[in-house]
Amino acid sequence: MGNRLAGKIAIITGAGSGIGAAGARLFAGQGATVVVNDVRADTARAVAAEIVAAGGRAVDHVADVTKPDEVDELVARTRRDLGRLDVFWSNAGGAVPEPTESVSLAEYQRLIALNLDSVFYGTQSALRVMLEQQSGSILMTTSGAGLRAVRHLAVYGMAKAGVISLARSIAADYGRFGIRANAISPGPMATPQFLAWLATVRDGLRRFEAQVPVGRLGTPEDIAHAAVFLASDEASFVNGVTLPVDGGVHAVFAAPPVEGTAKSD
Ligand SMILES: NC(=O)c1ccc[n+]([C@@H]2O[C@H](COP(=O)([O-])OP(=O)(O)OC[C@H]3O[C@@H](n4cnc5c(N)ncnc54)[C@H](O)[C@@H]3O)[C@@H](O)[C@H]2O)c1
Repeated sequence: MGNRLAGKIAIITGAGSGIGAAGARLFAGQGATVVVNDVRADTARAVAAEIVAAGGRAVDHVADVTKPDEVDELVARTRRDLGRLDVFWSNAGGAVPEPTESVSLAEYQRLIALNLDSVFYGTQSALRVMLEQQSGSILMTTSGAGLRAVRHLAVYGMAKAGVISLARSIAADYGRFGIRANAISPGPMATPQFLAWLATVRDGLRRFEAQVPVGRLGTPEDIAHAAVFLASDEASFVNGVTLPVDGGVHAVFAAPPVEGTAKSD
């Protein structure tokens, strides 16, 4: 427990699971009141209840972030019930790999709606409240697929690259009104789905971890700790960045193997 977000009102989308749920727990543990959004009522309710049971402050709010009227209502209810909005973290998103030539038009539109349109809707709704307050922090979850190409994630990568651009634009346009915008780029994470997929590949986990400079996969808490910093007043001069939280994956360029040629190998 701490007070790095004391008194702040924060909405986190897609907070019924994974990174968003870890964020909700850590934000509440640092004194924020968290609006736990998800499209799934059961998980949103469970995360909010867990936070309250642990002595924190949280409410759940079911909304589909691909629907602008539902996002507007999420923000409007937060202001109505909690008085203000200090942090809006657009986090809901995701994709499964698929070769580009096989992506149907419906799937293309679904991926863009979930991973890009939703972030615009949330940002615009939050901005309207934050402009009145002349303060606020907007966070967006992007991806390594938005920074670099990840095989079979072209559409997701397009959307996540758009998120990075939006964070920069909001930072440039609204910084002078006390509103900051930053993106967080999670690296490879030890999610149940990813671990299950790695288990289908011979020696998959070890071989994949060997490609991560810190030698392990990430956890939702790794990402949430970065979000606490960016949401807090400690980051009041951090604006328009995309922070990779990926064990150093983004820093590495393709190179021939050199194992065994230095003491550090
Ligand atoms: N897990 C990774 O390896 C990884 C890597 C890079 C980026 N990311 C990004 O991090 C974010 C969170 O991913 P995660 O791994 O925690 O995923 P997750 O699947 O565990 O959680 C996503 C949550 O979003 C909710 N959601 C889905 N559609 C929604 C909608 N329309 N409206 C509201 N909520 C909705 C889901 O119900 C779920 O609870 C996503 O934006 C994802 O693209 C994840």
